[in-house]
Amino acid sequence: LRHLLTLEGLPRTTLEGLLDRAQTMVDAGEVNARLAGIAVCTLFFEPSTRTRLSFQRAAQRLGADVLGFDASTSSTTKGETALDTFRNIEAMGVRGFVVRHSDDGAVATLAAAAAPDTALINAGDGRSAHPTQGLLDMLTLRQAKGGDFSGLKVVIVGDVRHSRVARSDLHALRTLGAGEIRVCGPASLLPDAAMLAGCTISHDFDAALEGVDAVMMLRLQRERMAEGLVDSLEDYHRDYGLDARRLRRAARDAVVLHPGPMNRGVEIDDDVADGPQSLILRQVANGVAARMAVLETLLG
Ligand code: CP
Repeated sequence: LRHLLTLEGLPRTTLEGLLDRAQTMVDAGEVNARLAGIAVCTLFFEPSTRTRLSFQRAAQRLGADVLGFDASTSSTTKGETALDTFRNIEAMGVRGFVVRHSDDGAVATLAAAAAPDTALINAGDGRSAHPTQGLLDMLTLRQAKGGDFSGLKVVIVGDVRHSRVARSDLHALRTLGAGEIRVCGPASLLPDAAMLAGCTISHDFDAALEGVDAVMMLRLQRERMAEGLVDSLEDYHRDYGLDARRLRRAARDAVVLHPGPMNRGVEIDDDVADGPQSLILRQVANGVAARMAVLETLLG
């Protein structure tokens, strides 16, 4: 593996190898020096809390030198392009780049320009991919439900159309052989049929929840959304908001995931987000180990 740009097409053995390594790190609370002397830059052209900080924490736990890049105080505000920014930081001897950008394909474009010993990790590009979120979600599901996904019924709910997380989760769930993948949301927020191949599509959240083992909620991405795709936040909450009463339709031991940041009171209510079936903070904790496994694999 040279770069990690997407989970699409990643062989099952590679995906499971990363999950196994991440689980070992969780179990051992691992800290090592495999990246000692290697510089890693978190190059974020879009806001982030979880992804940026957990990559920084992951790189530190592997002994790397970590450089943060803040777009709002960088020379991009003077018109410097992302490619020139990347090339200049690469010229400082940085070998690992964790990149977030609002444009689909932006990280692949930088990767195509990288030196042979530079590795790029996609930390989210446009609507396309967020591969380490997909990894940490699978790690969290595996811990809760075991490694055999063939009996697992999962529903992905909400703004699938604008979600790079949903795309990465769908690729990973298919690769790991999930038994049933349901996708639920208003027609205006569901993507092209090609992305949903093999999924059961529903616009009725109550029906889609029946008997599922895992509910993967998505944030309503108002920053990527044309006006008019949802009638009102109140209507959206009524039709697609998850509260404890609605969650009772899922299996008794169903778990709830959300990549964050959450819109509380819109797609998820406090009684679920902070309730006993929520794995949302476990996802965040697992993110550090998943990202350590990726950094170690690419740069170690
Ligand atoms: N899940 C996620 O990508 O969160 P951040 O935008 O805070 O990184």
